[in-house]
Amino acid sequence: MTETRIEAWLDEDRAFAPSTEFSAQANAQPSIYEEAAKDPVAWWRQQANRLAWDVAPTTALEWDLPNATWFADGTLNASVSCVDVHVREGRGARVAFHWVADAEGESRTITYHDLHREVCRTANALLELGVKKGDRVAVYMPMIPEAIFAMLAIVRLGAIHSVVFGGFSAEALSSRILDSDCRFVVTADGAFRRGVASPLKPAVDEALKSCPDVTAVLVVQRTRGEVQWTPGRDYWWHDIVQRQSDVHQPESFPAETPLFIMYTSGTTAKPKGIFHTTAGYLTQAATTYHYVFDVKPESDVCWTAADIGWITGHSYIVYGPLVNGVTQIMYEGLPDSGGRDRWWKIISQYGATILYTAPTTIRTLMKWGHQIPEAFDLSSLRLLGTVGEPINPEAWMWYRQNIGGDRCPIVDTWWQTETGAILCSPLPGITATKPGAAMRALPGISVAVVDDAGHEVEHGQGGYLVVTAPWPSMTRGIWGDPARFFDTYWSRFPGKYFAGDGAKLDSDGDLWLLGRVDDVMNISGHRLSTTEVEHALVGHRAVAEAAVVGASDETTGQAIVAFVTLKLSAEDMNKDQAALVEELRSHVASVISPIAKPRQIILTPDLPKTRSGKIMRRLLRDVAENRSLGDVTTLTDPTVVNMIAGLMDTRASSDD
Ligand code: PRX
Repeated sequence: MTETRIEAWLDEDRAFAPSTEFSAQANAQPSIYEEAAKDPVAWWRQQANRLAWDVAPTTALEWDLPNATWFADGTLNASVSCVDVHVREGRGARVAFHWVADAEGESRTITYHDLHREVCRTANALLELGVKKGDRVAVYMPMIPEAIFAMLAIVRLGAIHSVVFGGFSAEALSSRILDSDCRFVVTADGAFRRGVASPLKPAVDEALKSCPDVTAVLVVQRTRGEVQWTPGRDYWWHDIVQRQSDVHQPESFPAETPLFIMYTSGTTAKPKGIFHTTAGYLTQAATTYHYVFDVKPESDVCWTAADIGWITGHSYIVYGPLVNGVTQIMYEGLPDSGGRDRWWKIISQYGATILYTAPTTIRTLMKWGHQIPEAFDLSSLRLLGTVGEPINPEAWMWYRQNIGGDRCPIVDTWWQTETGAILCSPLPGITATKPGAAMRALPGISVAVVDDAGHEVEHGQGGYLVVTAPWPSMTRGIWGDPARFFDTYWSRFPGKYFAGDGAKLDSDGDLWLLGRVDDVMNISGHRLSTTEVEHALVGHRAVAEAAVVGASDETTGQAIVAFVTLKLSAEDMNKDQAALVEELRSHVASVISPIAKPRQIILTPDLPKTRSGKIMRRLLRDVAENRSLGDVTTLTDPTVVNMIAGLMDTRASSDD
């Protein structure tokens, strides 16, 4: 979203008052912001009472920048706070998940009681396979309940999960397994997408060729496709988990016990293993879920339409909702599995009350037309949320009017893999909402927008978003690389956490996010670094050099545009350009993931470089977005960029 577009909406001064449906929240907590601001650390200590502690903590924050510990002398077991406590306190019969399959008509209902039994069995199975406290276990799964059983069973044993999105390639999987030295993998034979089975196990087999230290692979049978089997290493879930005891006595672990690692893209080619620990993360995931979504566990049916392979799935399908003991919908398929009305069928069938999704999906649904949701009774919905990328005001308004019946408040939640949980969002009963604004920091959180020199900007000005005080669910670091942790987040503005996002305060002081200010792209809410994609491209035999930029895209927010020079002779280049471009696109998809497939690849004889040899990505972004070119005087050869712009034009007209 460009600043000018935001300005246009600000001029309209459109804000929606706090929703009266949530006035109970406002009345019960009139001073929640003030109360938290008086003593944020004490406030968070209070919130930590949401967890089922074995030994309650007497401490809260210990802060030695950039290292924080929260509630460090307490002990607990994460899976007990998510599962056992609900059974123990008589809520076992409540549905934890309505699991809805990709195929219409297939579903499962899992109560908290069922969840407890399955997590205990899975924990016992993992014990049998040799998983111990502190071990890393990779989870490479489709959206099936066993993925959640596995995550909770792993942390129940004090082991650490590293969930790798099922859409990632074998190479991406093996590099993640190696980086955190995972010794175990939980996976499935395959996944269903729009009724078609796509295999997962072959990618694991391929990945493990370079991971000799993995000793056991636990495989759920989902698609019943043919699989290769390595005896002594591979175990079917139905053979080993089903026969385990339903009883597993959980051990109590210190609050700072590592809980999980989640890889995310930074500005280099190597993804970072962001790791989170137990109690601080759980406290904030649960607290934010409670306040931002104003959840009512007895009556809500919550749907976070995300994949557990990303942080949104971790914090708002698994940990936050389960600590709150809510009922959720977990959906295996794509928005159009079985037809473009699938989501609305699910919402009306299960009476969903809260829907949380990404702007990209909203824009896709919008493209399909308002007639589709209109045909359904969506009156059960009472709150809508968005996450993952800036939402353009048009999409926000469409969501409010067509899905929320012009009555549901929208919470635009800003956060990151590193922050673990939401940091900025409206609260539906307390703050107003504006189309496209994340509004303000949550209670107990301090953020600021600063200029290049680190000074806070005035209302009406833009700058960089920083977090000015530690928070419970902040990452405890990059797995195996503490120096990179400090350099990436804490060195740009001394004493402050630099998020990598541009932001603006409007004249009321409300917060608008403007997108990344570094080489991280946001494609459909998925984070990818330009360097990562360039690295994949230059790995192809025909590529000499590659420069990648994120160009704005109406549906996906940003799309990948790659400028590539070839090692081939000019003659070869002319011969087979279209086929080569397709080959390069598929190559990137197979090295990283289909989500990294460039929208466009421009084959060019040269790239624009400064006299010191640096590729001028800024100019390439201008070219990719069809803008007039900025200053080209520092280029070795200013004609190169005009030539590339010409190539883009030719491409565009031949595409038409
Ligand atoms: O640029 C911001 C964008 O997503 C980045 C974090 O990506 P990831 O770690 O994959 O986590 C996504 C899910 C939390 C941020 O640096 N982002 C996230 N939420 C918003 C957003 N940009 C604007 N508005 C948001 N609500």
